[in-house]
Amino acid sequence: MLHDPNRVYVFDTTLRDGEQVPGCQLTTPEKIEIARELEALGVDIIEAGFPISSPGDFQSVVEISKAVKEPVVCALTRANKGDIDAAAESLKYAKRPRIHTGIGSSDMHIKHKFNSTREEILERAVDAVKYAKKYVEDIEFYAEDAGRADVVYLAQMVEAVIAAGATVVNIPDTNGYCLPDQYGSKIRFLKENVRNIDQAIISVHCHNDLGLATANSIAGLQNGARQIEGTINGIGERAGNTSIEEVVMVLKTHQVLGLHTHINTRNFYELSHMVSTQMRMPVQPNKAIVGNNAFAHSSGIHQDGFLKNRENYEIIRPEDVGFPSASIVLTARSGRHALKFHLERLGYNLDKEDLNSAYSRFLTLADIKLDINDEDLLSLVAFKMVKD
Ligand code: KIV
Ligand code: ZN
Repeated sequence: MLHDPNRVYVFDTTLRDGEQVPGCQLTTPEKIEIARELEALGVDIIEAGFPISSPGDFQSVVEISKAVKEPVVCALTRANKGDIDAAAESLKYAKRPRIHTGIGSSDMHIKHKFNSTREEILERAVDAVKYAKKYVEDIEFYAEDAGRADVVYLAQMVEAVIAAGATVVNIPDTNGYCLPDQYGSKIRFLKENVRNIDQAIISVHCHNDLGLATANSIAGLQNGARQIEGTINGIGERAGNTSIEEVVMVLKTHQVLGLHTHINTRNFYELSHMVSTQMRMPVQPNKAIVGNNAFAHSSGIHQDGFLKNRENYEIIRPEDVGFPSASIVLTARSGRHALKFHLERLGYNLDKEDLNSAYSRFLTLADIKLDINDEDLLSLVAFKMVKD
């Protein structure tokens, strides 16, 4: 059913799973603004909300459905008719609607969340898919807590929901529990043992409780999944969701994997800032791809190597993710090469002797002042001129 077997579909859930973070709630106009930027980024699916959860969420799905043209607009439900009715209603203006329904698949959830049995849960899963299928063609089924589910039961569930009409099967590591090889093997098992698996796309949806969300998502893709779910900046409950910018850049950097997306990676940095500002959730400076230090070189050895050839210390070009530029930060750990670079930038081309003496003044200053700016550099050079 896929035209290009190496194409990875990107499913963004910043506005649903991401927005579940306390204090990060967005207004409908803010969500529309982000949805438009997600469309410009080139995501394939926008999960716009969980319509039954509140009138505001319902309205956001309605408005996002009207606002975007290209991406599929998706609404989340639990496996019950009321949720599915609300989702279908909220998606009525969507050009390409998808209902995302599902239920717990681990014994933990089956017993301690639903107080039920495997058989009963399987029936509810199938019924939900069949019911949703009356409204829309595109149905994604999520097997919640699949990361901890028994893989044989999971395979049975996946086979049954595909037979009932699911077009995408989402295998969430809801609690961020799996190791990459465990998660990858689970996807491989489904690929090899579910008889009708080629009638659906397998989706990976990983949480970051152990800091493994990106690694697990990649393992899932390497083992046959072709949709990845995540959020901008990895925002989400607890330790967050998979960070979309990380997975996309892993695929772009490691072309040997043979997988690609249709994402305009140059939009990442700006969108990251928009999401961070609107959600009042700062991005940690050392965050991969979009953090403020992601392309800042500060130690002497690295700066020297970078200035000789940027590829010595740069595996991604900052411009490829819309980052303003790489930076050589001046600290007490910087070497002469970095100082020379900055002085030349300011128009000063010092000979070796003058550079050495400016460097020793620089070190004295850098030990007491954390942020060396252009004014400081000019004062270092002015000091030399006065002495002469
Ligand atoms: O983490 C999860 O299991 C989810 C589902 C509702 C898709 O977010
Ligand atoms: Zn989730």
